[in-house]
Amino acid sequence: MKKLIIAIDGFSSCGKSTMAKALAKKLGYTYIDSGAMYRAVSLYCLQNGLISQGKVDETTLKDRIGALTITFETDADGFPQTLLNGVNVEQLIRSLEVSNAVSIVSAIPFVREAMVDLQRKTGEHGGVVMDGRDIGTVVFPNADLKIFVTADATVRAKRRYDELVEKGHPEPYELIVRNIELRDRLDQTREVSPLRKAGDAIVLDNGLLSIEEQDAWLMEQVNNKIHGAS
Ligand code: DC
Repeated sequence: MKKLIIAIDGFSSCGKSTMAKALAKKLGYTYIDSGAMYRAVSLYCLQNGLISQGKVDETTLKDRIGALTITFETDADGFPQTLLNGVNVEQLIRSLEVSNAVSIVSAIPFVREAMVDLQRKTGEHGGVVMDGRDIGTVVFPNADLKIFVTADATVRAKRRYDELVEKGHPEPYELIVRNIELRDRLDQTREVSPLRKAGDAIVLDNGLLSIEEQDAWLMEQVNNKIHGAS
């Protein structure tokens, strides 16, 4: 059976990675979190003093980026783990410090070039579900199936709010909506590889869908591609 390249792009806090992971598992494909790669480079910069006062030492980073290794493995429970130079950094790359640094690091053109090369190498043989912002537009413009995920900012904010309440760290709902709207604007207006829907991507507005409905919809799109219905 044909092994597809599946690109899942879209706005932040849309549940892209949960959806991509579940789909990869169901199909027996490899899941690649392209955002984790940008986060790993950002962590490297922070750990090596290459970021100061919101500026990256691009000369040094450019010299070293070719020698960085970013790889993935699966832990005993089946969860993907990110390795930077052979060391598991999965927890560290999710920190607030890295989240704050990643928007400047991921906007550097030579960083994007290096990551796009790596993403293409990882997915070139198919059987891959990759999520990010520019997978269907830049990384795999010929992907077999492209999904662009969106949901109203207020719906995403409500989900995030509920998650934080559940974790015991509630934050004001209004603040969360504003933060999501700001990130949407930054993602869409940055100069290099801004977030935009590929012409041939299928839009999934998951604001009103349950997880089960969403999974069923996704499998229908995959089956259509595998069996040639579209
Ligand atoms: O998906 P995420 O939030 O883990 O992504 C982290 C950051 O990397 C976010 O600022 C967007 C950026 N990113 C990107 O520019 N291109 C991608 N393909 C994936 C993520």
